Amino acid sequence: MSQPLIECRELTKFYGSKKQPIKALGPVNFSIAAGSYTVILGKSGSGKSTLLNLLAGLDKPTDGEILIEGKDITKLSQKRLARYRSEIGIIFQFYNLLPNLNTIENILMGGWAGGSHPDYNKAKELLANLGIAHREKANITTLSGGEKQRVAIARSLISDPQILFCDEPTGALDTKNEEQVKEILEFLNKQGITIIMVTHNEEFVNNADQVIFLKDGLIQPFTKTTEESHTPPKPPTPPKPPTPPLPKVPLPKEPAKKPALPHDAKHPGHGSSKTVINV
Ligand SMILES: Nc1ncnc2c1ncn2[C@@H]1O[C@H](COP(=O)(O)OP(=O)(O)O)[C@@H](O)[C@H]1O
Ligand SMILES: [Mg+2]
Repeated sequence: MSQPLIECRELTKFYGSKKQPIKALGPVNFSIAAGSYTVILGKSGSGKSTLLNLLAGLDKPTDGEILIEGKDITKLSQKRLARYRSEIGIIFQFYNLLPNLNTIENILMGGWAGGSHPDYNKAKELLANLGIAHREKANITTLSGGEKQRVAIARSLISDPQILFCDEPTGALDTKNEEQVKEILEFLNKQGITIIMVTHNEEFVNNADQVIFLKDGLIQPFTKTTEESHTPPKPPTPPKPPTPPLPKVPLPKEPAKKPALPHDAKHPGHGSSKTVINV
C-alpha cells in the first residue's frame, strides 16, 4: 500500500505548565489518504481544534510524530514549517479575515503570507467562481457571514493547496450558507484536494471517507446517534492517484446546485503530482 498523505503516531498535546499540565489530546494514531475527505468529529472540548492546529503546523505537540508524505513536521525548523503552512489551506469558523483590507486584498494575503506574489487575476477568478465578484472592493465588515467564508475559502485556495484544513467552517453560518459551503468543499475534494474537516455536526459524516471521533482527546469508535444510523460512513477509500494542482475548472458559481464537473475533474491524476511538503 502506498504511503498515506498524513500519519500521526502517538500524537499527544498537553497545555498548561509542567507542574499543572492539562491534557487536550492523545495519544492518537491514525493516517489520512491523499485525496480523501476526513471528518474529525467530537463535542466541544474533545480536542478537535488542538488536533487540527497540530496537523496544520500551527502548534507543536508535546509528544509524537506527524508525518506528511513521510516527513515529520514536528521536527522542522521554523522556516521550513512556515513553508509547509504556506502550502496548505486553512479555514476557520470565524473566517480570520483582516478588517482593514478589502475583499480582494484579503484573498491576495493568502499568498503574501507564504512569501509569494499571488496572482491578482487568479484572485479575481476565485472570487467570480465563488459567486462574489461584485464584492471585490468591499469593506470586509460589510460582507455577510456566507460571503466572508467564501472570501476565506478563496484566500485558502490562492496558493493551490493540496490539503484544506477546516475548523468548524459552517459553525457561524445559517443553514443555506452551511449547505453551500459544504458543497464547495465537496467540489474541491472531487478536484483532488484532501479535506480535513473539524466539526461537532454529525451531518458531515455522510460525506466522509473517514471519521476520526474524539472524546476527551482520544479516538473512539463512532456510531451515529441519529435515526439514519443504519447508513454507516463510507469505508476508508484506497489512496487516490496523485492529484493535479488546484482547479483549473471553475468552482460552482451557484453552489446551491450540484456542480457539473468537467470530465477531467472527475478523474484527477492526469496532471503532474505536487508534493505538499517541499522542504
Ligand atoms: N491554549 C489552551 N490552554 C489551555 N487549555 C486549552 C487550550 N486550548 C484548548 N485547551 C483545552 O484543551 C481541550 C481541548 O480543546 P479544543 O481542542 O479547543 O477542543 P474542541 O476544538 O474539540 O472544542 C479543552 O479542555 C480545552 O479547554
Ligand atoms: Mg474547536
